[in-house]
Amino acid sequence: MALPLLVDCDTGIDDAIALTYLACRDDAEVAGIVSTGGNVPAATVHRNNLALSELLGVDAPVALGADRPLVEPPMFAEDTHGAGGLGHAVLPEATRAEDPRSGAQLWVDLARERPGELVGLVLGPHTNLALALEIEPELPRLLRRLHVMGGAINHRGNTGATSEWNIAVDPEAAQRVLAAFASAPQLPVLGALQATEQIVFTGAELERLEALAARSAHPVARILAEAVRFYFEFHQADGFGWTAHVHDPLVTAHALTGEFASTRPLPVDVELAGTLTRGQTVGDELGRWGRGPTVELLDEVRPAEFVEHLLGTLEAGLG
Ligand code: RIB
Ligand code: CA
Repeated sequence: MALPLLVDCDTGIDDAIALTYLACRDDAEVAGIVSTGGNVPAATVHRNNLALSELLGVDAPVALGADRPLVEPPMFAEDTHGAGGLGHAVLPEATRAEDPRSGAQLWVDLARERPGELVGLVLGPHTNLALALEIEPELPRLLRRLHVMGGAINHRGNTGATSEWNIAVDPEAAQRVLAAFASAPQLPVLGALQATEQIVFTGAELERLEALAARSAHPVARILAEAVRFYFEFHQADGFGWTAHVHDPLVTAHALTGEFASTRPLPVDVELAGTLTRGQTVGDELGRWGRGPTVELLDEVRPAEFVEHLLGTLEAGLG
């Protein structure tokens, strides 16, 4: 029985790898996709999600989310993901239809249709999940579980000095989601930067993707190779050398398989008022708040095993 997942993403290069990974897996069912503004504007994310899902044969509903965060002014990361969100890749216009519902409504409707079955996977800002909670406060009990890529727990940020992108774009939304899901039957799994930055593509992985694109007739193979090359160019320009941090696929594969990392319970909350620290995800390692844990934090990552699993899945699925 394939695991049904609703993927809320800001596609984006690593989001695209995560979506492709799921499409290559027989044990995964992409039950819905929500297009959330983040790496690029929501409309561009939506264009990418429609085109990618069509090319991948994923006929799940794709719904456009809100065009701005709850409070924070919109910000985008074209330097990291390119103006179109997928680096050098040029995608065909989708011929498939979008779902007419809002992203928030799609969250609610799919969770209500499949109580206890649907896994929520948030790979971008939490804007639309927060809006969905306003429609249906029971979401934490309707979803089977929530998995999130986001945050940097007592670890430097990648956006502000202490903030990670998905949280920094919409800190109010992230804070509301954490508060609501603290009472879920199973705490959300949080893949924060200290875990996901251990997933580093080197030149060898880029060469594998380019070799796959050279021998594969599948259009997504070329799209990923051209997207990831841009991602390398960004990381090199940003001082990380000829590499790329690949965040979203680790959280995605762990949500699907439970493998490649362990988790540990931790009280985590989002700073909203800090002058220097707004958007920081703070972890209460010493229990000073007197509150219970709010997340299961990805820990003890097995990077080499995961990278081989990811590339092997893409090569088998797109080859
Ligand atoms: O900080 C990394 C996260 O921000 C990833 O999800 C990436 O796609 C961007 O959304
Ligand atoms: Ca993302």
